[in-house]
Amino acid sequence: MHNTRKINDDVYYVGGNDRRLALFESVYPIPKGISYNSYLILDEKTVLLDCVDKAISGVFFENLDYLLGHRPLNFVIINHVEPDHCATLNELVFRYPEIKIISNAKAISMIKQFFNFDVDNHTIEIKEGESFSTGKHKFSFYTAPMVHWPEAMVTYDNTDKYLYSADAFGTFNALNGNIFADEIDFERDYLDEARRYYTNIVGKYGQQVQAVLKKAASLDIKMILPLHGPIWRENIGWFIEKYQKWSSYTPEEKGVLIAYSSVYGNTEYAVNILATKLAEYGIKNIKIYDVSVTHVSEVLSDAFKYSHLVMASTTYNMGVFINMETFLIDLVAHNLQNRTIAFIENGSWAVVAGKLMKEILTPLKNTTYLNHKVSLKSSVKEENLEEINLLAKEIFDSL
Ligand code: FEO
Repeated sequence: MHNTRKINDDVYYVGGNDRRLALFESVYPIPKGISYNSYLILDEKTVLLDCVDKAISGVFFENLDYLLGHRPLNFVIINHVEPDHCATLNELVFRYPEIKIISNAKAISMIKQFFNFDVDNHTIEIKEGESFSTGKHKFSFYTAPMVHWPEAMVTYDNTDKYLYSADAFGTFNALNGNIFADEIDFERDYLDEARRYYTNIVGKYGQQVQAVLKKAASLDIKMILPLHGPIWRENIGWFIEKYQKWSSYTPEEKGVLIAYSSVYGNTEYAVNILATKLAEYGIKNIKIYDVSVTHVSEVLSDAFKYSHLVMASTTYNMGVFINMETFLIDLVAHNLQNRTIAFIENGSWAVVAGKLMKEILTPLKNTTYLNHKVSLKSSVKEENLEEINLLAKEIFDSL
């Protein structure tokens, strides 16, 4: 059996989907699955662009067997060594013993770390700027360090003008038959997951992503073929623009993200009053998350989306409530910048969460902190209403 799709005369999709994995990288929930893309080119010499996760090795090797027939697999270009793509590399070498792996020195040294087969006898080392031909197709290689690992690179096919972009331009969510972004409603069904994928996985490395975007800008790109999610052949500029925003830490939208933790609902009450006041000021774009309920990867993703963030936390063990602390540390770890931030704090005897939240966020660059802070003692009292209103007004004025 096999399940492939033709991309053009001699280029085929040979990847597949995993809808059973609960946590990608053991941390990110993927309720709608994920695709592991791989591409086979039947040129004068046959060449595969990356492998797949071992979860879908069955369909992957069946696809290769079917398309290759009696032909050998001559080359595999490895753009990224992470096991969600490379875990099947040793079996690939075992099945096609004559194969040569084309990749850069860093990647080859990582392949040696992961596997025990005779890597040196199976590799052709290439450098950025070099090219490699399989007959009709001529490939050029561009390093893409930290997008998402240091060895990552992207491959440009000068013949088709296709960019094989590795993790860049990827997304969570399995592919459901259609493999092209123009065949689906990407903005409705995939954009939020593309943002969550980008921000959580490479969000920290905006500068390095910008460097890759610069390299890509010099190429005439007719198609972007990532290792996760749909292939781009139309409206490519729209998605590149999203990457420009995310990697430069520019808010995608003016809006307010309110993230809170609340043990008995009193901090939550203040958050809901604030949201109502913001709505009364005419603000439409408001998102509220309980960070103890919504996975941190989703809240982080929306922190990259919106311009204004309100953090509301109870004081807990003389610190910030644990799930809020996790979220704030994650924001710092992902290098978020250029945001306007405000705080709501609560506590029944020592109210220090606001000060401590700000301390955790100290490393964030280009952050504007609003003047008004809401400070609750156990529950919302009459005097807090004025504080909340002042904060709502300050947010409105700064939007
Ligand atoms: Fe999809 Fe960084 O691997």
